[in-house]
Amino acid sequence: MVHRKQRIAVFGAGGHGKVVVDAVERSDGFVVACVADDRPLPGAAILGHAVVGGREAMLEGRGGFDGVIVAIGDNRARLEVAGWLKAQGFALQSVVHPAAVVAPSATLGAGVLVMPGAVVNAEARIGDNAIINTGAIVEHDCKVGAGVHVAPGAVLCGGACVGAGTLVGAGAVVLPGVRVGESLLVKAGTVVARNLEKDD
Ligand SMILES: CC(C)(COP(=O)(O)OP(=O)(O)OC[C@H]1O[C@@H](n2cnc3c(N)ncnc32)[C@H](O)[C@@H]1OP(=O)(O)O)[C@@H](O)C(=O)NCCC(=O)NCCS
Repeated sequence: MVHRKQRIAVFGAGGHGKVVVDAVERSDGFVVACVADDRPLPGAAILGHAVVGGREAMLEGRGGFDGVIVAIGDNRARLEVAGWLKAQGFALQSVVHPAAVVAPSATLGAGVLVMPGAVVNAEARIGDNAIINTGAIVEHDCKVGAGVHVAPGAVLCGGACVGAGTLVGAGAVVLPGVRVGESLLVKAGTVVARNLEKDD
């Protein structure tokens, strides 16, 4: 039996959009259906895919794709667009680059992106629309909230928790079992050794 490839719309035509298009193109079961952006530059194209326009284009193109992934690096903006897409009835698609390792016992929400060299280990839970970026490590039993971005090379040690909307900056380390609150910024290259909340 021949399986048809899933046609994926990529929403976001910036630098992050580029790596998402690359990941979709390399994934066995997917093909890029279109690239959309609310503020496309004239003549914009991402890796050879013309940018079709923004939300209106998504509505017009409905039916031409099976799912959408939001390719916007900024957590708040990504969640806003994902919420709109979901409210319009679009299916949010997760994409795992073929050079990433995701344990079978880990769970990924909708619209999650896992980039090359990243590891999501046993029984980790990744919330909707989170980004596990290039070379990041999410160890066993971690809980990563919706819309979190674990930036390139960051490490969440076993059992760490990161609240919704937080950016864990490039190369940062969250030590085992430590909890980081919601909508925070963990500075690039820092070590979080104790629980971190908004007013800390
Ligand atoms: C912490 C952070 C938010 C600071 O941003 P900012 O307020 O714009 O700070 P600036 O870039 O103006 O830098 C201010 C000073 O802090 C230093 N600095 C900035 N970030 C730093 C970091 N993570 N660690 C150590 N020093 C840092 C700068 O060198 C500069 O030092 P100086 O005053 O001696 O020249 C930012 O650097 C950061 O870590 N962002 C996360 C980025 C990331 O990982 N994104 C993911 C992309 S995929």
